[in-house]
Amino acid sequence: MTGGAGYIGSHTVVELSLAGFHPIILDDFSNSNRSVLDGIERILGTRPETMEVDCRSHKALSAAFQSITARHAISGVIHFAAYKAVGESTKHPLKYYTNNVGSTSELLQTMGEFEVANLVFSSSCTVYGQPDSIPVDEKAPIAMAESPYGYTKQVCERIIRDVHASNQPLNTALLRYFNPIGAHPSSHIGELPLGHPNNLIPFLTQATAGLRDPLTVFGDDYPTEDGTCIRDYIHVVDLAKAHVAALNWLASRSEACEAFNLGTGQGNSVLEVIHSFERVNGVEVPHRIGPRRDGDITAIFADPAKAGTAFDWSCEKSLDDALRDAWNWQRALQS
Ligand code: UD1
Repeated sequence: MTGGAGYIGSHTVVELSLAGFHPIILDDFSNSNRSVLDGIERILGTRPETMEVDCRSHKALSAAFQSITARHAISGVIHFAAYKAVGESTKHPLKYYTNNVGSTSELLQTMGEFEVANLVFSSSCTVYGQPDSIPVDEKAPIAMAESPYGYTKQVCERIIRDVHASNQPLNTALLRYFNPIGAHPSSHIGELPLGHPNNLIPFLTQATAGLRDPLTVFGDDYPTEDGTCIRDYIHVVDLAKAHVAALNWLASRSEACEAFNLGTGQGNSVLEVIHSFERVNGVEVPHRIGPRRDGDITAIFADPAKAGTAFDWSCEKSLDDALRDAWNWQRALQS
């Protein structure tokens, strides 16, 4: 698992282990914290096998694959490793192209050399832009990317499709995440944004804890019922379980290359999220209405039926569960 020490990666390590896999984390810890490994150990009772690897380096990847294949058969690779801050990507596009695109290309090369075909790729619903109709399914067209970050996801999907169409055996699930939120119910792992959080929930929890200024709601003049943007917020544990299901699906295929939407199928506005958070946790979220944020789309939520059928998977947790777990995680961080 490249980027296995990150937010979605760490929750997937837990679910894979519980399902009987032996996940191995490859991470350069440039955007994650080693304390995540302690949290995983607390949940599982064992420390996950971890290798410090910069996935932009073919040499480092080859050495890792060499060492792993000497001991295990690799049933698949899950490629999480990527930067994901939209705003930063507009200021430092090359950082995003080198890391996100470079690591995907080097990884595919290494997989070819070691004859590993099964790949689960971390993509994003950002590839759709503002779709013509919602819920959005996988047949919706890919929109012009709004940011270098968004473009890296499109390019990586394309690179994977091109390699799939070549002679290199490749069997891939492209997982298009909607908005992952929440934390493990044990509060041992969760989102650990380094510095100023850009995404809604980490900012909301830090603002509520008094660590940040009040949350700014980015615009209340959108054409939605309460004027704020609508997204599909999926509990990170449900998302992690989808990765287990995707690996199992790949095991029953040989030359697949398919995209899957991973969301709940339900849209919630920013104000709905704030009010649900207040109700579930019995706290007040300090917030004010501000201007729109550049590049935000009005509304998107998933049609997750394809993943549901193929993976025999569905979301088990509610928005309330995710908001409760997010707040418990924030409090655990401070205790
Ligand atoms: C963002 C990215 C998306 C990326 C995803 C993963 C944009 C336009 N999209 O999704 O490409 O895959 O993160 O990191 O940046 N909001 C506020 N106040 C805040 C923060 C957010 O009102 O302080 C609102 C936003 O306007 C949005 C919603 O909350 O309506 C969710 O925002 P966010 O968590 O940043 O996710 P996305 O923008 O959907």
